[in-house]
Amino acid sequence: MTVDAQQPIAPEGTGAVAIGTPLPRIDALAKVTGTARYAAEHGAADLLHGVVVNTVVARGRIRSIDTQAALALEGVVEVITHLNRPKMRSMDLFYKDMTAPAGSPFKPLHDDEIHYSGQPVALVVATTLEVARYAAMLVRIEVESRPHETNLLAHRDRAKTPSRLKAGYSPPPKPRGDAESAWQAAPVTVDAEYYAGVEHHNPMEMHASTVIYGEDGHLTIHDKTQGSQNSRWLVSRAFGLPERKVTVKNAFVGGAFGSGLRPQYNLLLATMAALHLKRSVRVVLTRQQMFTFGHRPETWQRVRLAADATGRLTAVMHEAIAETSRREDYVEVVVNWSGQLYACDNVKLDYQLVELDQYSPIDMRAPGAAHGVHALEVAMDELAHAAGLDPLALRLRNYAERDSAKDLPFSTKALRQCYDQAARRFGWERRPLAPRQMREGHEWVGWGMATGTWDAMQMFARARATLDEEGRLVVESAATDIGTGTYTAMAQIAAASMGLPLEHVTFRLGDSTLPVAPIEGGSSHVSTVGSAVHGVCEKLRKSLWKRAKQHVPGFDGARYADLEFRSGQIVHLPSGATVPVTQLLRESAGGRLEDKYLLLPNMLKQKKYIRAVHSAVFVEVRVDEALGTVRVTRVVSAVAAGRIINPVTARSQIIGGVVWGIGQALHEETLSDHALGRFMNHSLGEYHIASNADVPEVDVLFVEEDDRIVSRMGAKGVGEIGIVGVAAAISNAVFHATGKRVRSTPMTPDKVMAREMG
Ligand code: MOS
Repeated sequence: MTVDAQQPIAPEGTGAVAIGTPLPRIDALAKVTGTARYAAEHGAADLLHGVVVNTVVARGRIRSIDTQAALALEGVVEVITHLNRPKMRSMDLFYKDMTAPAGSPFKPLHDDEIHYSGQPVALVVATTLEVARYAAMLVRIEVESRPHETNLLAHRDRAKTPSRLKAGYSPPPKPRGDAESAWQAAPVTVDAEYYAGVEHHNPMEMHASTVIYGEDGHLTIHDKTQGSQNSRWLVSRAFGLPERKVTVKNAFVGGAFGSGLRPQYNLLLATMAALHLKRSVRVVLTRQQMFTFGHRPETWQRVRLAADATGRLTAVMHEAIAETSRREDYVEVVVNWSGQLYACDNVKLDYQLVELDQYSPIDMRAPGAAHGVHALEVAMDELAHAAGLDPLALRLRNYAERDSAKDLPFSTKALRQCYDQAARRFGWERRPLAPRQMREGHEWVGWGMATGTWDAMQMFARARATLDEEGRLVVESAATDIGTGTYTAMAQIAAASMGLPLEHVTFRLGDSTLPVAPIEGGSSHVSTVGSAVHGVCEKLRKSLWKRAKQHVPGFDGARYADLEFRSGQIVHLPSGATVPVTQLLRESAGGRLEDKYLLLPNMLKQKKYIRAVHSAVFVEVRVDEALGTVRVTRVVSAVAAGRIINPVTARSQIIGGVVWGIGQALHEETLSDHALGRFMNHSLGEYHIASNADVPEVDVLFVEEDDRIVSRMGAKGVGEIGIVGVAAAISNAVFHATGKRVRSTPMTPDKVMAREMG
C-alpha cells in the first residue's frame, strides 16, 4: 500500500499507546519544519494568481466596471466579473453548502447587485501575485448606491422570530410554568441587558484555494476548509460538474474555528478562473479580506432572573436579538442554555433576528453559547450579589440533576466535580464575599467564576482500515484536522484498539475521495470519526480472532472477550497462547486485511438523554484604578467532556478556548461606521486579539466521565467548551475587583471607567 508522504506519522519508538495516553501531536514536526503544506502552498507548473477586488459600498448596483488599465499590464491574463464569468448554475439550491443557513446563499460575481460592504466584485488573474495585486488596484468600479441599514441596536424594532429555519437547529422551547408572575412575586430579582459586539475570524492561515487544472479537466483543489467533501459538494453543484471531476484536499489547516465550515468565496472564484482559463489558479484572501465573509453576530440580550430568599431560582427569562443578512436566517442557539443549565420551573426564552445589509453571520467557536451563556452567567453573578450569596453556592443551590426543559436525564454530567476541583485549585474559599475588598498597588484584584456548557454531538462517518503483513495499519476517512489534533487522536484510537505501536499506524484524512466524514465542527469529530475508527478496528480484531481460532493452536475455541491485542500480538489470556498479527495475516489472510465501518448515531438511545459537556471557570483579574485596564492573572478551567483521548491535545483545545475567551472579554470587536455600512478596523493592527502578554498560565483540569451514550469510546468533545463561560468569569471578576458591572463585551477601559453601569 502507498502512504502519502504528506500524512504525518508518529516517530519510531513511540510504541504502545492507550486511550488517555498524553501524546505530543504527530504532525508537530511537519508543522514546525514547514513541510506541512497548507492550501496556498500547493503549486502547479503554470500557476496563475488571483486577487479579489471588493466593493466598499454597502448596498447598490454596479453601473460599470473598467478593467482596461488592469488588463493592459504585462502579466495580467484576465479580469473576471459578473459580465464574463464562466457559466454557473443560478438556482439557490446549487449554492447551498452542507452547513448553509436557510435562505438564499450569496453567489459571488453572480450579477450586478451589491449586498454588503466588502462584497467581491472582480477577480484579477495574473502570472504573478504582485502583478495581480497591483492590477486589482486599477480596476475601476462605479456603483449606484442605495440606502443601507447595518445598525442592530437602531433596528431592534424590526426583530422577528426566524421563519427560515436550518435543519437540526433547536429553536427556543415553549415557555414552562409562569415566569412573569414568579418574577413579580420573588424577593430577589435581576433584570439586565447585555451586548456582544461583532467578532471576526482570525485564524493564522487565511482562507485560500489552489485549483490545479488537470489535463483531462479534472480539478484538484487544495482548500482551506473544515470539510473537503463540503467544498467538493459546493463546487460540483455550483458549476454543474460531476463529483468525480473534482477532488478537494485539506491535509493541513491553520486554524478555522468555524470560518471554514462554509466554503468561502475564494473557492468559487478560484474555480471560476480555472474553468474559464483552463489553467491552475490560486486565490488567497488578505488579512483585511478575512473581514469580508461573515462574523460572530452582534447580539443584544436581556436576562431576568428571580430567586427565593434561599437563592433557589424561581424564574429564568432570557431574550436575544441578533443580526442576520437580508438573504439568509443565520440562527444559533443563544438562549436555550438558560433553560437547561439550572433547575427552574418557570422559564421563558425568546430569540429573534434583525435583517441587515451585511454578509450572513457565521459560526464561531461555540456559536450562540459563547455570548448566550455569557449573559446568563453574568446575570447569575448579579443574582448572587443581590441575594448576598457566594456565586458558586448559588450555582450549587440550583444544580440541575436532570434537564428541566425536556425532563430528561443527562447522559453523564460531572459539573459538580468541576466546580469542586476548580474551586479548590483556585482557592475560592478565601474569596471575600463583597466586591472591592482586594487591592495590590494601583490595581483592584477580583475573583470571578462562571459555568460553561456545550452540546456533545455525534454525526455520521465511515472509516476504512487496511492492515498489511508488516503489521502496518492505515485508517482512512475524509475527516479534517483544523489544528485540533485529529491526526494524533485518530491514530491513537486505532493503535490502542489494535495493540499496535503508534508509529505503525497512519490516519489519512483531508481528501474528499476518502470515505465519507462530516465537517470538523461542533466539537464532534472525536465522537463521530473517532467512533468510526474504533468501529472499523473492532471489525479487524474480530476477523483476526476468527482466523486465529482456525489457524493457531491454542486459540481453538477462544472467546473474543478473552483476547488481548498488545505489542502487535494477539494474546489468549486464559491459555497464555500468543500469535503475532503479522504471522496470522501471512498464514490466513493473504497478508492483508481490509474492512469498512459506517458509524451511525444510535438516535433511539441518544434522544432519551441530554448530551452535553460542562465546565467551571475561575478567574482572577487586576484592574488598574487610573486606567481601567483589565489584566487576567489566573485562570482555572475544569472541564467534563467524557473520556479524554489525548490529554495533551485536549488541554491545548481548552487553553485555546480560554485565550479566545480573554479576547472576547477584553479585546475583540469589529466596529462599524454605520454611515458607510462598513467594518472599519479590519486588520490585526486595529482588531485586537489576545496576545501572549494578555494570557496568564492557564490551569486546565479534566474531570473524566465515561459516556457510552455519546460515543463508543466514552469520549465527548473539547473543541468549543474551552471558550464558554470565560468572558463571564472575567466580567464577574471585574465586578468583584471594582464593584463595577460591565455588561457589554469587549470590556474596554472606557466601559470599565464609565460612570454609568453597563
Ligand atoms: Mo466550530 S464554530 O463548529 O468550527
